[in-house]
Amino acid sequence: MTTNTALEEKFREVGGKRPYVQRLFGRIAGVYDLMNKLMSLGLDGYWRKRAARYLALATGQTGLDLGAGTADLSIAVINGSGPGTKMIGMDITPEMLDEGRRKLVRMGLQDRIELRVGDAEHIELPDNSVDGCCSAFTVRNLTNIKQGFSEMLRVVRPGGRVVCLEISHPPGKIFGTLFYLYFYKLAPLFGTVIGKAFEEYNYLPNSLTTFPKAPALKEIMEEAGWSDVRYYYLNGGIVAIHVGTKAE
Ligand SMILES: C[S@@+](CC[C@H](N)C(=O)[O-])C[C@H]1O[C@@H](n2cnc3c(N)ncnc32)[C@H](O)[C@@H]1O
Repeated sequence: MTTNTALEEKFREVGGKRPYVQRLFGRIAGVYDLMNKLMSLGLDGYWRKRAARYLALATGQTGLDLGAGTADLSIAVINGSGPGTKMIGMDITPEMLDEGRRKLVRMGLQDRIELRVGDAEHIELPDNSVDGCCSAFTVRNLTNIKQGFSEMLRVVRPGGRVVCLEISHPPGKIFGTLFYLYFYKLAPLFGTVIGKAFEEYNYLPNSLTTFPKAPALKEIMEEAGWSDVRYYYLNGGIVAIHVGTKAE
């Protein structure tokens, strides 16, 4: 396993975590969806559907998907909402968005989901301009998680929600050990053999090492100003969905 010091060295070599992450996702954009399905054993679609339900956008409202990538969370939100609901998907990696745009055209959803290049830590939207904000597997990649949640709070209208779906640290001992074995050993092997991307799929487990456990992530969201923050573990805590509300 690559140590985090080694990972930090890699970030430094390319000028920081953000450019490292951007290049990494740029390289794997073409295989990203397939690898997601394989590595999550087909569970990723269910996880996004659950996250979309917590966002609970009403008919005609607009949501923001940060680190939208190939647009699967935005699609889940739209599929679970009434007519007229719209999504803006932002991501720092143009190659991921290009894959997403092709998918939206195939699905006829290009008028309801707009994909733009944009940074979750410096969101180019006015204050209180969206009805809710969500992300799937993005927050782990941020340089400053609290800054990301502060920006989300700024752009969401009072009363709106934030929903964060992320890989987590399963709390159960036996299940936790099995998960770590899978996540640190088998999943990178899939990535290397099938995705032909050794470094990229080694970054995945290493990015979890320093990522806060669910209760600590809740605290970060509260420090950023989100109210009524709760989290829900799915599938034994492999992933967690954190939900918060912007006070009226
Ligand atoms: C693991 S992918 C998740 C993509 C998508 N949300 C999904 O559910 O499959 C993480 C995405 O976050 C994007 N990302 C990383 N840091 C970001 C940032 N600061 N702002 C916006 N997007 C970012 C990456 O480019 C990548 O597309």
